Amino acid sequence: MEIINSILTNAKYSSIFLAIFALLAALSSANPKTHHHEFVVEATPVKRLCKTHNTITVNGQYPGPTLEINNGDTLVVKVTNKARYNVTIHWHGIRQMRTGWADGPEFVTQCPIRPKESYTYKFSVVGQEGTLWWHAHSSWLRATVYGALIIRPREGHSYPFPKPNRETPILLGEWWDTNPIDVIREATRTGAAPNVSDAYTINGQPGDLYKCSSKGTTIIPIDSGETNLLRVINSALNQPLFFTIANHKLTVVGADASYLKPFTTTVLVLGPGQTTDVLISGDNPPSLYYIASRAYQSAQNAAFDNTTTTAILQYKSTHHGLNGRKPLMPLLPAYNDTNTVTAFSRSFRSPRKVEVPTEIDENLFFTVGLGLNKCPPNFRARRCQGPNGTRFTASINNVSFVLPNNISILQAHHYGIPGVFTTDFPAKPPLKFDYTGNVSRSLWQPIPGTKAYKLKFGSRVQIVLQDTSIVTSENHPIHLHGYDFYIVAEGFGNFNAKKDSSKFNLVDPPLRNTVAVPVNGWAVIRFVADNPGAWLLHCHLDVHIKWGLATVLLVENGVGKFQSIEPPPKDLPLC
Ligand code: C2O
Repeated sequence: MEIINSILTNAKYSSIFLAIFALLAALSSANPKTHHHEFVVEATPVKRLCKTHNTITVNGQYPGPTLEINNGDTLVVKVTNKARYNVTIHWHGIRQMRTGWADGPEFVTQCPIRPKESYTYKFSVVGQEGTLWWHAHSSWLRATVYGALIIRPREGHSYPFPKPNRETPILLGEWWDTNPIDVIREATRTGAAPNVSDAYTINGQPGDLYKCSSKGTTIIPIDSGETNLLRVINSALNQPLFFTIANHKLTVVGADASYLKPFTTTVLVLGPGQTTDVLISGDNPPSLYYIASRAYQSAQNAAFDNTTTTAILQYKSTHHGLNGRKPLMPLLPAYNDTNTVTAFSRSFRSPRKVEVPTEIDENLFFTVGLGLNKCPPNFRARRCQGPNGTRFTASINNVSFVLPNNISILQAHHYGIPGVFTTDFPAKPPLKFDYTGNVSRSLWQPIPGTKAYKLKFGSRVQIVLQDTSIVTSENHPIHLHGYDFYIVAEGFGNFNAKKDSSKFNLVDPPLRNTVAVPVNGWAVIRFVADNPGAWLLHCHLDVHIKWGLATVLLVENGVGKFQSIEPPPKDLPLC
């Protein structure tokens, strides 16, 4: 439209050359770019908490490199595995339209990249702006293999808010004082919950409140009168986190690479996988202020890392060095402050009226929760160290998801290889029960299986995600690969279609890729299945994936090339 207008205006002054010039300029500035990167995954010495660890990193960086692109651009990332573990990289939140082969979850869309091998991920970003991230999607490698993925507006376009003076990615992480791969292996052996982390981190640094850490504390700069766009990412493995800054208001403008109707708060809550973009202003007396983050823990009687990570917001006019002055410490909510979490998530709105599907073709009801398996007869007691001699498990609709181990689901689907998975994942729980009540012990043991749910191309889908109180209720951050979805409602207790449907926001619900299902409650999401492929739906608390809190939505091809997945890349790893 702008181009046509400028041609018309210029033509009026019969300056056809100017018009052509304007047209060329407009075309070239809208030209999407292709960014080439190389990721080398390898063990690197990293010193944290008084000890040097041989840490798996990308290009020796922890956190890994930040990728910065514009909406419409293409990313080509060659990943070379020089570590001793299998690895894959997932581009969390990227829709991967027709490029599911580049999505990354091990044994879902690809076989892992074996040590000494490589694979090139290639995909374009269309219609997404804001903050996403990338992380390993194999075992617990993502504890240290992760980084930010920033998508700015198309060139010549601007943010729907005043341009900030600076932008800072803030990656919240979780650190173990031992090898995280050993932590999950040990838990898999014993059946118990894995050891909790030893620290949380901000941009890889635990901060002043931990031993041997203050030297490296992350400094976030700001100047008086400036605004800084903080791109906050929860890349912790297993912990939803509160986030706050002493004396500074946070204006939320986006989440999961979708814009939001701006709102102001003093505290953010992010489930693992979620991102939140906030503007802060340098409107306080020049000084040092702590940025702090700690656990939101909704599960009862479960161990968790109850430490606090800090970074320092430093006004540029304050001279470097603390000079004995301590930064101002903010108040953080109590670890179990669910009210704050609810108030925060209920503030989310899309900036304007959006196209939410109103007619629904697939009405799914998924219970999400934990379980306990009885000790198998051939297992020694030391392999059953869950509560009362059991082993932890988890499920959706009583199916505890098991990954294939010799081919990915997408490859098996594409080449028609039988025996890898079945498509009988249930649309609703096999048995109706009081999900958030006192659940009979006979329902605590789910059935393992590799089951997918088939969706026709273009079908309009609603999923009710219902937490259960089996073992313990808990706030589960549920992530769907390959899609953004509208969160039309959330609530507590058992979802009641008659009563709760009237509360659906079908006008301006937020668009996200990860929904935090309230503890002892439910959330309802809607989307159109317009992206063919095998898409993992799972809890982003990594320990829960291992226990089976996952399934795959298998979206079939539609009609013709543009409704079908592209052919697999030549270098797609084979098992
Ligand atoms: Cu961010 Cu399946 O993951």
